Amino acid sequence: MSDESGHRPRVAVTTLGCKVNQYDSEALLGAFTQAGYDVVHSHEDADVYVINTCVVTGRAAAKSRQLVHRVARDHPGAVVAVAGCYPQTERAEVLDIPGVDVVIGTRDRDHLVELVEQARESHLAAHLAAPMTGLRLTPPGSDGEARPWSYEELPIAEFHGRTRATVKIQEGCEQFCSYCVIPYARGPVRSRRPEDVVAEVRRLAAAGFKEVVLTGIHLGAYGRDLGAHDSDLGHVDLAAVVGRLAGLPGLARVRLSSIEPMEITPALVDLMVGGVLCRHLHVPLQSGSARTLAAMNRHYTPDDYRRVVDAARARVPGLAVSTDIMVGFPGETEADFEDSLAFARSMGFSRLHVFKYSRRRGTPAATMPGQVPAVAKAARSVRLITLGEEMGLAFVRGQLGMAAEVLVEGEAERGGLEGLTDNYIRVLLDGPPEWQNELVPVTLEAATAPGEASGRAKNISEV
Ligand code: 5AD
Repeated sequence: MSDESGHRPRVAVTTLGCKVNQYDSEALLGAFTQAGYDVVHSHEDADVYVINTCVVTGRAAAKSRQLVHRVARDHPGAVVAVAGCYPQTERAEVLDIPGVDVVIGTRDRDHLVELVEQARESHLAAHLAAPMTGLRLTPPGSDGEARPWSYEELPIAEFHGRTRATVKIQEGCEQFCSYCVIPYARGPVRSRRPEDVVAEVRRLAAAGFKEVVLTGIHLGAYGRDLGAHDSDLGHVDLAAVVGRLAGLPGLARVRLSSIEPMEITPALVDLMVGGVLCRHLHVPLQSGSARTLAAMNRHYTPDDYRRVVDAARARVPGLAVSTDIMVGFPGETEADFEDSLAFARSMGFSRLHVFKYSRRRGTPAATMPGQVPAVAKAARSVRLITLGEEMGLAFVRGQLGMAAEVLVEGEAERGGLEGLTDNYIRVLLDGPPEWQNELVPVTLEAATAPGEASGRAKNISEV
């Protein structure tokens, strides 16, 4: 496709937020490419700018909002499309932003190219007649709530600029943790058909991706909505679909992006023992205080959490367990926070993502008493981040002297090569550039930073 001047139209996509968004953006880029568009960077001149937004915290939402305003202001001649969680939760607000031409949420993404095309056709005329107003295009029926939420099959052909590809296999969440806005933004649990998962991973592996990271909004819920009739393979859960990926030609590793503690099944642990799944689990804890967990509607206690993680560790040597912890949830006292901190320390996490509780309108926690002042949240956050760094270093130190395989991503900024082990240690090593995208056996020699080590390639002359 080209315009009157013979130029192929150009599209830039900016992604905020989670791995699911990254996947969705990749799928959208694929759809534009198929329609004849060239993909450019968002700081280049483009005919179409797509912003795939995030609202998980107030800060993420503010960033999304500011970016949409800026892009719309800076590119009055281009078509501006807003996608993802921001328009899904704050549709009217997005429709009011001057210069926004197309608004889709977290579904109907298969309509995006078509809507953008319509907008491009009418854009010039509309823009000349009334700069910064124009039309707002939304998918048919998107005003009503009556439409079903189905899993939208959005395949990707490649994953830009990475050694590993993220593959989305699940959408939506029905957990309704009391702080979280995501169930409202993403809708109910929908699982990708296992046949489609296998086909996509097979394609990516054939294209050279040795590692895939399976992702979803509530990944552990995979398969809950699938009956045997949805699949040629009968009923499947997460472990079953991972098992189907074992032995696909060219695929060396499968990683899970995140898994809830009570969803770490023996079958998933078996897959780590069998070397199909990476020895790495990201298991959101949120709090180490039983009282706070109950108020969060999390359905487990710190003891439950410890039990499942200990059971997995007992069977998987070198298992990396990372987590998300929130500070300043309403009603969290200093004593609750100390409980959380002590529990986190006792778990020996390999990495810790700290979130300051952010009040999200429409969630139960937003109106709970005992909202914690910003200064207290900041102080607690600093203490947890420091603990996270200590634990990250300790985890790597515990692995020194061990053999590992590094999937080399490329040259490190500091010189030499860098890549990741299956248990998510970033390794700096010396070797030729041809090792990029190869699995190189190494010995871990020294801890250089939290989550990071230097390594020496084994049998360097033979590799
Ligand atoms: N405030 C702060 N952090 C949040 N998260 C989810 N909702 C909120 C909120 N309202 C964090 C959780 C989750 C991560 C992806 O985002 O820790 O694990």
